[in-house]
Amino acid sequence: MSDHLFSKRTRRVPKSFIRDILKVAGKPDVISFAGGLPHPGLFPVREIKDAFMTLMEERGSESMQYGPSEGFSPLREWVCDRYRKRAGLDISPDNVLITTGSQQALDLVGKVFLDEDDFVAMERPGYLGAIQAFSFYSDAIIQVPLKGDGPDMEILEETLREKQPKIFYAIPNFQNPSGQSYNLEKRKHLADLCATYGTIMVEDDPYGELRFAGADLPPVTSFMKSPSILLGTLSKIAAPGLRVGWIVGEEAMLDRLIIAKQAADLHTSTITQQLAWQYLATNNIEDHIETIRLAYGRQRDCMITMIRRYFPPEVSFTQPEGGMFLWVTLPDGWSSAELFELAINEKVAFVPGAPFYVDGGGLNTMRLNFSNADEADIEEGIMRLGRCIEKYVGGGRPTE
Ligand SMILES: Cc1ncc(COP(=O)(O)O)c(C=O)c1O
Repeated sequence: MSDHLFSKRTRRVPKSFIRDILKVAGKPDVISFAGGLPHPGLFPVREIKDAFMTLMEERGSESMQYGPSEGFSPLREWVCDRYRKRAGLDISPDNVLITTGSQQALDLVGKVFLDEDDFVAMERPGYLGAIQAFSFYSDAIIQVPLKGDGPDMEILEETLREKQPKIFYAIPNFQNPSGQSYNLEKRKHLADLCATYGTIMVEDDPYGELRFAGADLPPVTSFMKSPSILLGTLSKIAAPGLRVGWIVGEEAMLDRLIIAKQAADLHTSTITQQLAWQYLATNNIEDHIETIRLAYGRQRDCMITMIRRYFPPEVSFTQPEGGMFLWVTLPDGWSSAELFELAINEKVAFVPGAPFYVDGGGLNTMRLNFSNADEADIEEGIMRLGRCIEKYVGGGRPTE
């Protein structure tokens, strides 16, 4: 089919390179560190089954009906309670819009706030799903480098001052893809800068509850004195298959976002919203999150131990205090895409870093997910990757 039949905005969006990788990585004999998937053994299958039975008995026909676009009220109340308890945020259900995963929230934010020539600022490297979602609406994504404890604040200020981006999109806790978190000072500074330059802060926090070391830090939203948006999801603390996420923001913003949501899907599935709420109302989610934290902490430790054992010392990596990802930097001049080809032959997969950069950078970087694989597979997979690096260094580069 001729390309010109597609809209300009569709043609502009980068092809999802990760989908191709995940296809290869999903083969049964491949050990995959590629996807951002939770561990399947930790899903609350029995609890969700029981919740579903109760839901059908108590509200069967209501759950099959259309519902309000802003979402199921008790679930919106649950979101408020949680932020009140966790972060002292003073919000009401009127500040909450339930979305079909937080990925939909990114699309709605793009639709409501961005014109084609509006700049969008985000982290470098940045979340691929946000690059993709915002690319449909803006032709001007700029990235601000991360420095290990948050963005480079000088470059950030220069970017906000000179480009006046509408949005700064950030993942301050255990960022995807780098695993980095913002320190307290940068959180406060970021809130001040957004207020000074009139940029909307979009804080995406799917991983904040998955902390297995260190102390929790308040969300940037708690320091904001100007318009901001906070995104959350049940995907990483319960199950991504539910497709339940949310947007927290001031009512004037939500009014517009609700109209965009109506145009997109009328509302998020009533059945899954009510099922999620039933599950949350009858189970102790804290216990479940604690189980996940402990498991991911062990998996991360295992991956780090194996990297130290099997990777050469010139390969560096982050040691996140939570979340699902570890970020690896190979020496300058090495190509993680070439290493990926060797790795696939060894039946181990990761995501090469380039797609997380909008400027062609990151060729020597890669993302490793530690949440999805068992410890035995992590040991085996990292050993195989170490073997690939040895081959690569020894001249086995596929292009040579
Ligand atoms: C930073 C970030 N935001 C949003 C999402 C989308 O999550 P959801 O399943 O809630 O749509 C992900 C998924 O991996 C993510 O890593």
